[in-house]
Amino acid sequence: MFQRFLSLAVALLLGVSVYAQSDLKAVYLRCEYKINPVTDVTQPRLSWELTSAVTSQYQTGYQILVATSVALLEEGKADLWDSKKVTGETTSQIEYAGKPLESRQICYWKVRSWDKKNVPGSWSEPARWEMGLLQKNDWKASFIGLNLNHLGKGKEYHLPPAPFLRKEIDVKGPIKKARLYVTALGLYEFQINGRKIGNDYLTPGWTDYNKRLYYQTFDVSKDLKLGKNALGSILSYGWYAGYLGYALLVRNPVVKNFYGDVPALKAQLEIEYTNGQKETIATDNTWKANYGPIVESDILNGEVYDANKELTGWNQTGYNETAWKKVITVSEKAERLFQSFPGDPVREVARLTPKNIKQIGAKAYLIDMGQNFAGIIKVRFKAAKGDSILFRFGEMLYPDGKLMTENLRKARGTDLYIAKGDPNGEIYEPRFTYHGFQYVQVEGLQNGLGMQDILGLVLSSATPKAGTFETDNAFVNQLYHNIIWTQQSNYLEVPTDCPQRDERLGWTGDAQAYVKSATLNNDIAAFGTKWVADLNDAQLPNGAYPLYAPAPSVRKTDTYSPGWMEAGIVYPYQIFRSYGDTRIIKTHWSEMKKFMQFLETKSKGEYVFKETAFAEVDPKGGFGDWLSVGKKTPPDMLATMYYAYSAQLMQEMALAIGDENEASHFKEINAKVKAAFLKHYTNAEGRFICNAAAYGDGRGYVDGEQGFEGHTQTAYANAIFMNLLDSTHTLKAAKWLNELVVKNGNKLTTGFLGVRPMLPVLSNTGYSETAYKLLFQKEYPSWGFEIQNGANTIWERWNSFTKEGGFPAGMNSFNHYAFGSICEWMFENMAGIKETSPGFKTFLIQPEPMNATINSLKATHRSVYGSITSAWQKKGDLITMTIEVPVNTTATICLPPTPTNNITFNGKALVASTVKPKWINRRERNTVTVGSGKYVLSYKKSALSGF
Ligand code: BGC
Repeated sequence: MFQRFLSLAVALLLGVSVYAQSDLKAVYLRCEYKINPVTDVTQPRLSWELTSAVTSQYQTGYQILVATSVALLEEGKADLWDSKKVTGETTSQIEYAGKPLESRQICYWKVRSWDKKNVPGSWSEPARWEMGLLQKNDWKASFIGLNLNHLGKGKEYHLPPAPFLRKEIDVKGPIKKARLYVTALGLYEFQINGRKIGNDYLTPGWTDYNKRLYYQTFDVSKDLKLGKNALGSILSYGWYAGYLGYALLVRNPVVKNFYGDVPALKAQLEIEYTNGQKETIATDNTWKANYGPIVESDILNGEVYDANKELTGWNQTGYNETAWKKVITVSEKAERLFQSFPGDPVREVARLTPKNIKQIGAKAYLIDMGQNFAGIIKVRFKAAKGDSILFRFGEMLYPDGKLMTENLRKARGTDLYIAKGDPNGEIYEPRFTYHGFQYVQVEGLQNGLGMQDILGLVLSSATPKAGTFETDNAFVNQLYHNIIWTQQSNYLEVPTDCPQRDERLGWTGDAQAYVKSATLNNDIAAFGTKWVADLNDAQLPNGAYPLYAPAPSVRKTDTYSPGWMEAGIVYPYQIFRSYGDTRIIKTHWSEMKKFMQFLETKSKGEYVFKETAFAEVDPKGGFGDWLSVGKKTPPDMLATMYYAYSAQLMQEMALAIGDENEASHFKEINAKVKAAFLKHYTNAEGRFICNAAAYGDGRGYVDGEQGFEGHTQTAYANAIFMNLLDSTHTLKAAKWLNELVVKNGNKLTTGFLGVRPMLPVLSNTGYSETAYKLLFQKEYPSWGFEIQNGANTIWERWNSFTKEGGFPAGMNSFNHYAFGSICEWMFENMAGIKETSPGFKTFLIQPEPMNATINSLKATHRSVYGSITSAWQKKGDLITMTIEVPVNTTATICLPPTPTNNITFNGKALVASTVKPKWINRRERNTVTVGSGKYVLSYKKSALSGF
């Protein structure tokens, strides 16, 4: 303080500018994408955002200090790492390069940045990270459990009770620091003195348990008390030993216990006393086990809870555990990795109160939660001892008001509570399960249910919100709402297809088609990093990426499919593009190359997949343009396009990690595939063709009986999107694409693979008006059709419900994000925020304010550099654009095709010399490039001729 005063006085005396300090400040400090995390990454990456009131501000250098204590950090004594001043604009994912870090080490860090004038800003507030357990031998704990498999009674579902484990310990003195490292084969809840530790659900998460297992670290310093403490844990079967996917439905020889059959806990409590003594309490054979009220417990099938079997006091000290059994220890697999959970934990992210409760029988009620979501209920009621209260869950009602549950297929998806008859009422909230639902049917409730008696706990992986999108058009807002809720319901531990039926698998095709949309709505960097590891763990021996990950095959014949397997390339690529993450590329490079080798071998040196090339998989050709309408785009044609696209992405990723050789290799592959594609799948005119006869009667192919055709919306949209065509051919193809849509009454024929590129391609080739017609289409198949039929999430099928036809049976979900990939177009075209370099270091602002029914729109996206805003408003003839550009980034604003002297820029006439023509989306456009700040542009609509 005194020093500062002194320098101020000296500065004043000398008459120099008072503070030689910039207002540039680092905020939102993150380590491995998280705020103050525990990580076991030995060179964790540090990131921050910058704030400054100065326009066009950017960073010219930074300095990071890392110390072993806050005090040292404050004094500027970086005993772990002083990066010294590093010149450059990088603010994201800077690898720690200080002293080697040890298990359990706590690192405090701060950063300051130099501004565009090379003046330093002040230091950031301190942040921290903590190292997890880096060595296998840091683990002293054994896996312990209780085998209750003989108690599974059900006929169709064999569901044993949930084991309870306990141990009392002595805390010998005041605690300086206490950490709980905990994981399980299966699912665990850990309690200390009766309180659940942490807010996470479904821990430790889903991985290929044979290869890796994640653990959580909790600071439990405040949960322990001097003297006796009770440690307790409830286990469940989870993804490890429970039912998975549709194994039961398809009569797979194995329907559960895919990884093992006895859930087991591995936990160690490490206490450091203020006197310096350390103590580790680890799970071992001195723990006791029993089972109690959780009679059945399964993610897909739900819970049975008998309150009469509660083990009152089991999680407190002084409990009489003589009836409890000795635990069994489960042996360790030497090759299994133990790692700190890298993703975002599943948490309660919102709470819903019911919209309506209707009595439907003597003791039965139907509750409308007002929104389809993934989660559980928390409910309070009075009941007599022994009353069975059954909760069923469904997404939709039949026209006669009855609950529809058929689409859950073999997922029993019910919770059952057997009351103890507490005169004060009972509260029930199931564990270790979740459901996808809007409606809850309760049966067996004698005393009714008030609106305040039931809550919907919305569960999702807690990926930080990164996007907002709002217009003055209720329909568009509803669509965005549906997208957000569907993403939230399905970004749940892994990117699942749907949260309700006997599936909930990390389907790779859905994931790759939707991932870019996902990044616009939420920061999925950590979630995606975790899932890409799952995906690579699941790579098949031949190099193909599987249909879903993680998961063993839940159907024997499930292998790989074009359009699905490329998730192994597309998903990490998107993490790289959205966040500028190159480590994900390096980490998985050899596996991605193995996949590219698989494609090369598979194409037999021809670099094209001709008709029937994938006849060996089931269904033949793979899933193709899944759930499309009408004639099928040949799956092999799509496979070839995806091959070219994968090579293109590999080329780009190789350049990003500085591997020129690999880049030119994949460039060559890309060129070869393009040439072979054109030769085989186009005619002299450039129209897309295929040899439909090769597929015979189409049997064995998805919707093969509908016949195959090359000249389809899906084919052109993908070919243009994936850059398979030169510029003249692109224009031709775009014209055909537009014609196909118009001739079809401005309706789509696209399925999962066709939807994603559809609107972006139309807009980017000059057919935005058609894109808007598709957006606003209300007839089947369209988003509008779903919304008109009451959708509040995105449906799996265009016709998941029709007033005339009801619900198609078999496979039908109302919460499936694949068709939500229109989100990408909403942000990139309607709002016009488009990244042009990884992490949005540079981006375009090119909105399309052309539709008469939208008068205002505002979208924001929080990139790794900070929040970007693009908003536009139409008032009479005047269009106003408001743009916010984060510090350290550059935006290129595309001007409307109106004489530039008609444009007002920040209240003044636009200065002509700032306008630069640029080639964007195949057209030369006038642009203004700006640095950080807020900009307002306005112009008269009358001068517009398409934007
Ligand atoms: C899933 C999908 C998935 C598909 C494969 C379905 O059962 O729900 O979304 O991609 O199978 O075609």
